[in-house]
Amino acid sequence: MKIIATGSSVPQLELTNDMLSQMMDTSDEWIRTRTGIQSRRILSTESLTDLAIAAAKKCLDQSSLQGSDIDYILCHNIVSDIVTPSMASIINKEIGSCCPTVDLNSACTGFIYALDIADSLLKTGKARRILIVCAEEMSHFIDWDKRETCVLFGDAAGAVIVEDGGDETYFHLSTKYTDALNCNSKYASSPFRKREMPYHYLEMRGRDVFKLAILNSSNDIKKVLEKANIKPNDVDYYLLHQANIRILEAIRKELDLPEKSVPHNIEKRGNTSSASIPVLLDELNRSHTFKKGDLLAFSAFGAGFTSGACLIRWQLD
Ligand code: COA
Repeated sequence: MKIIATGSSVPQLELTNDMLSQMMDTSDEWIRTRTGIQSRRILSTESLTDLAIAAAKKCLDQSSLQGSDIDYILCHNIVSDIVTPSMASIINKEIGSCCPTVDLNSACTGFIYALDIADSLLKTGKARRILIVCAEEMSHFIDWDKRETCVLFGDAAGAVIVEDGGDETYFHLSTKYTDALNCNSKYASSPFRKREMPYHYLEMRGRDVFKLAILNSSNDIKKVLEKANIKPNDVDYYLLHQANIRILEAIRKELDLPEKSVPHNIEKRGNTSSASIPVLLDELNRSHTFKKGDLLAFSAFGAGFTSGACLIRWQLD
């Protein structure tokens, strides 16, 4: 499988640590030293669907393809701004394609899952060219009264177009249940519902998630390197889920990697869930970081506890 285009879109509103410290009992110093985050973009006037469409269109522009050239759309979001139809089917209409569409949800690991499914669709010949869009509005379901979680996240959308061809793409995915990270749905009131409305914001045991993230991500990367029969330093760039700079550092040290092979944008984006890797990928692609033939590793983790890694050869000039 090869990536033939990338795109991304972030909201206009930049929410800095200093702005947060005006709203709650926190500080730039606390957030920066514990997480590496300095600011994040948050949806205000735009909608999540607007971001997703913009990321998809940027991808198409970069590839010079038309919407009608796409023959499958996989979209990933934990919560969309529209319950139904799916975000993928709205993107389908907006870009002028007429192909199968589906939304996935595997939490922050979503981009790796979407790539894995795309790889299978391409290999079986069910699709020739697939648009993947990961769009996340974390600000919609975090509790803005809880400083432990609300300072960590941002909103964004990232997209890629993939085609069959190029070198083998390797994957290692897993899910092992834990309740360290979860979020209940908010229900409309029903006259028949006898259960109480659950707390419907993101709940997290930060320290547990921190440890699981490092353990799972490091293991997934080791497994995927084993499958490809290569060593950690044979990979040119590791694009890791942007959740916490200390998590990135711990994974980098565990694999004994040089600093330059683990790029990051968490400083200005925060944790944007499944959008974090495709947004970073697009920013690095547009700043001409990669050269043709570079080997990229992606690795992410999230609620579930889902995690996964992928190894893919960069084919763009
Ligand atoms: N500002 C200031 N103080 C804060 C704060 C904030 N935003 N959030 C928490 N604190 C306080 C706590 O109340 C606690 O105070 P206490 O010592 O008086 O009880 C203190 O800071 C330490 O809290 P703790 O939770 O132990 O900090 P930590 O070093 O574990 O860092 C996280 C917290 C959330 C940054 C860290 O655990 C983490 O990044 N976990 C992974 C989260 C993640 O990646 N989630 C998404 C996965 S997809």
